[in-house]
Amino acid sequence: MSRVREHWGSKIGVVLAAAGNAVGLGNLLRFPSKVALYGGGAFIIPYLISLTLLGLPLMWVEWVAGRYGGKKGHGSTVGILGLITKNNFGRLLGIFGVAAPLLIVFYYIYIESWTLGYALHSIVGNMPKPLPTSDTDEALRPFVEFLKNYTAPSLEAYIFFWITLLLNWYVLHRGIRRGIELVAKVGMPLLLIMGVMLAVVIFSSKGPSPEWSAIKGLEYIWKPDFSKIFDGRVWVEAAGQIFFTLSLGMGALATYASYVKEKEDVALMGLATASTNEFVEIVLGSAIAIPAAFLFFGPASIPELASAGTFRLGFVSMPAVLNSIPLGFFWSFVWFMLLFIAAFTSSIALTQPMITFLEDEVNIPHSKAVAISMLIVIVGAHLSIFIPGYIDELDFWAGSFILLLFGIIEIIFFIWLFGPSNFTNELNEGSILKIPKWVAYLTGTVSLAFLVIILVVWIFQNLPSLISQQGLGVWLARTSILFLLLALGYLTVISAKEKE
Ligand code: PHE
Repeated sequence: MSRVREHWGSKIGVVLAAAGNAVGLGNLLRFPSKVALYGGGAFIIPYLISLTLLGLPLMWVEWVAGRYGGKKGHGSTVGILGLITKNNFGRLLGIFGVAAPLLIVFYYIYIESWTLGYALHSIVGNMPKPLPTSDTDEALRPFVEFLKNYTAPSLEAYIFFWITLLLNWYVLHRGIRRGIELVAKVGMPLLLIMGVMLAVVIFSSKGPSPEWSAIKGLEYIWKPDFSKIFDGRVWVEAAGQIFFTLSLGMGALATYASYVKEKEDVALMGLATASTNEFVEIVLGSAIAIPAAFLFFGPASIPELASAGTFRLGFVSMPAVLNSIPLGFFWSFVWFMLLFIAAFTSSIALTQPMITFLEDEVNIPHSKAVAISMLIVIVGAHLSIFIPGYIDELDFWAGSFILLLFGIIEIIFFIWLFGPSNFTNELNEGSILKIPKWVAYLTGTVSLAFLVIILVVWIFQNLPSLISQQGLGVWLARTSILFLLLALGYLTVISAKEKE
């Protein structure tokens, strides 16, 4: 490797960047929606078990993999897995860790741009007000109409998309330390402050009925409910949420970890990333959207809101609640800025693996690597914006299937091929914590088995919809996934030859 790779500027910078990577729309929108959809306390049990069995172990696998690869000049999973097999087999499997995040950013960045649009509308006082009626559907109608400006693309939505895209481009262009790290250092503390402020506002507000309270919303989430413990779907969704929210099974964290200094404490960094993410998810993610809906629309509204889609809680009921309390325009602005910062620090993390791949494996200079990656994102995002059905199909493959599959690949590579002792030594190198070797064995057996079962259940549950083909969006999504994998595969193979 002729080029000198960048490094993060400081320890706190790495932690904040990794936390920014993990904390995203997953924490503040996807988590509350899944909790509501799968019955509150019934979801939380599999969720916490998945966090322990999959979340933490894979978090360490990603950090170890990243630092190990970075030392040898490889920051994308293509290069990192290639180091383990020393041939194209590992390199080719590693492609999933570059393709999956890129495919996710195709739609993630579009939703991110909505939050920017909503934030600006809020601060200039342009948001609608809920209609004065006790019928929740009717009360929320102005907000449902408002959201249509974004779900069905309008000129305005398109402009916000471009602004968001150029902001991402700019930060990625500035690089690891002057771009990503700087944004995380400013954004993450702001995000935490805004999240706490919103939770305080929700919990100190009064709703229309004395019987409804925000506390009941918390109870709904946190009261253990064993009724659905044998429902495979809840387990699959809970494990999927752990992957998505912690940015696991995508190589996105491994790529960030590849820019740490040689002796950086990755055991601690992994723990810090997971804890920050879980604080934002479990504490802030459960203290805002659901309690707000409980307070204003009552418990009956929850399943209804959740079943109407991931975006209902965040883009319909939240602004409706916030725009009916004192200083509502401001709180609504805070909510959407919170979402925007969370999404922004994640969308740059989703694009970086591709940039790193082009730099480290194909030897393309930084600005050019950023430009190529952004051009691909532009094409993909246009399909998300304009082709109905494309987003769902991508989320289905890249946001679920590939993550689980790649999680399995990562465990096999880093525990079994690399060896449990090597893995434990790598993890403990430079660490103030001493992680015992049984953790590696537990990861290689229990976590692996759990993951395989989840994947098999997932495939069987989705087999019917997997086979039936519906429309242009689905066809285009599948074609673009295959095309991207083939193109990356081709680049991977020829770049290996060049280096020999
Ligand atoms: N973890 C992010 C979220 O919760 C999504 C993400 C996944 C970001 C993978 C980067 C890599 O929204």
